[in-house]
Amino acid sequence: MPPLQMTVNGQAVSLDVAEGRSLADVLRYDLGLTDTKIGCGEGTCGTCTILVNDPPIRSCRFPALRARGAQVLTIEGVAQEGTLHSL
Ligand code: FES
Repeated sequence: MPPLQMTVNGQAVSLDVAEGRSLADVLRYDLGLTDTKIGCGEGTCGTCTILVNDPPIRSCRFPALRARGAQVLTIEGVAQEGTLHSL
């Protein structure tokens, strides 16, 4: 399977991702973006919400491979000069 290529917080990334992994897992454990939290893991609480090509999605239930070629924005991406946004 070709590597997953996407843009995360303005940075192009390319990584091997096994089928079935959630985008939240890849962001947290492969890219170290741990401000994307995982709460319920069932798509209910909204803790893991990020933007993928603008609309908000629940990343715990979003297959990482569906983000191929996408623009992904996490809370780290809205930080200004290293200071996290109040969200
Ligand atoms: Fe609760 Fe994703 S962790 S909706």
